[in-house]
Amino acid sequence: MTDSTPANSMWGGRFAAGPAEAMERINPSIDFDRRLWREDILGSKAHAEMLTAQGIITAEDGAAIAQGLDDIWGEIESGSFKFSHALEDIHLNVENRLREKIGDAAGRLHTGRSRNDQIALDMKLWTRGAVDALEVELKDLQAALIEQADRHAETIMPGFTHLQPAQPVTFGHHLLAYVEMIGRDRSRLADARRRLNESPLGAAALAGTPFPIDRHMTASKLGFDRPAANSLDAVSDRDFVMEVLAAAGICAVHLSRLAEELIIWTTPQFRFVKLSDAFTTGSSIMPQKKNPDGAELVKGKAGRILAAFTGTAIVLKGLPLAYGKDMQEDKEPCFDAVDNLGLCIACTTGMIRDLQANPDSMRKAVVAGFPTATDLADWLVRETGMPFRDAHHVTGRAVKAAEERGCGLEDLPLDVLREIHPAIDDRIYGVLSVEASLNARTSYGGTAPVRVREQVAEARKRFLGDGS
Ligand code: ARG
Repeated sequence: MTDSTPANSMWGGRFAAGPAEAMERINPSIDFDRRLWREDILGSKAHAEMLTAQGIITAEDGAAIAQGLDDIWGEIESGSFKFSHALEDIHLNVENRLREKIGDAAGRLHTGRSRNDQIALDMKLWTRGAVDALEVELKDLQAALIEQADRHAETIMPGFTHLQPAQPVTFGHHLLAYVEMIGRDRSRLADARRRLNESPLGAAALAGTPFPIDRHMTASKLGFDRPAANSLDAVSDRDFVMEVLAAAGICAVHLSRLAEELIIWTTPQFRFVKLSDAFTTGSSIMPQKKNPDGAELVKGKAGRILAAFTGTAIVLKGLPLAYGKDMQEDKEPCFDAVDNLGLCIACTTGMIRDLQANPDSMRKAVVAGFPTATDLADWLVRETGMPFRDAHHVTGRAVKAAEERGCGLEDLPLDVLREIHPAIDDRIYGVLSVEASLNARTSYGGTAPVRVREQVAEARKRFLGDGS
């Protein structure tokens, strides 16, 4: 960063004094908005082409601007471009360099445009690109989850409610739950993309411009569906940033829950899964440790991703129309949240892909906690016509008896069961096994392996575009 340019040089006509030192530090955004350079140059090129097509600038100036912008693209890409704090932001840095390169023609680029529509445009283009990248990454995560679900369509594990053993489920079924959540995350992002895809360019400072610009032309050149209909709205709102951050926050919550499960499942108390060395760390003092740091960080980062949404909403909530410099504060949280969500997705995908399930530990854990108690109650309802509430009570007594004997429900002798309720006969053992319980749950969306296999095939079609 070199700062040879005097502050205010781009707009200082009416200023006698330069900014205070603290102002020089608070005002510039170039340290973070420089990453918008591609979007800024693409927007300027589209604008210049339109100005030329409309006869607002000459073809000669238009060509010089385009060439100059291409050269600047090369300079920034190669790292030779000198960014300046005094030039505040990416817009003025690029424009100033253009003036150095092509002289007065550079000054015509800003005709019918303002930094207000320029920054709204740059952020929209950037956010749209971020959504497109997240979409690909999330699909990849779904592919990893579906692959493991397929492998474990029949692997039995305890299903939990309140983190207490509830009913047996298959590990594949459990993983497919996350495939659905990520599917909704993708659709939220796709929705946000559809809504944001209107071009703010040409709204100018806030009220439009007297120049005969063609906003439809720039909109379509930049891949937008249409120009934004209201110039005040176009420069004022950042709901597209909030919407993408809200979707990112919800997605981060999903990843965080999965991360927490991985953390629980890797404890020696559970031993349901093993994470690969690639996503774990050792302890500097305890040689036996293998810590799930990757998962912990995914969980931790959900905090800052959610904070990005609330932070941006708080910046915007008290802003009168139209542009206010407050809006400059949307960028760091937005970039940070998108970067970190991408990292969380990549990490989660890697952990899931490498994950090794331990079906033996899962199977052993299933028998703890009388996971087939509901099956006993259901049998009483089905076979004796007993109301479910009564069956629930009878089953509770059977659970108590098993607890006292230190055995499972399926190990209770028939005479003990008949003492609890005389209508019970030996057919009861057909439903008390874990396998029977699992295989019986064939309702749509249920955990029976036959359903899970179907769901794996469906998920491939719905989410991976796999017709095979
Ligand atoms: N850096 C500013 C932002 O991020 C760019 C727009 C500045 N516009 C202005 N009128 N000062 O919002």
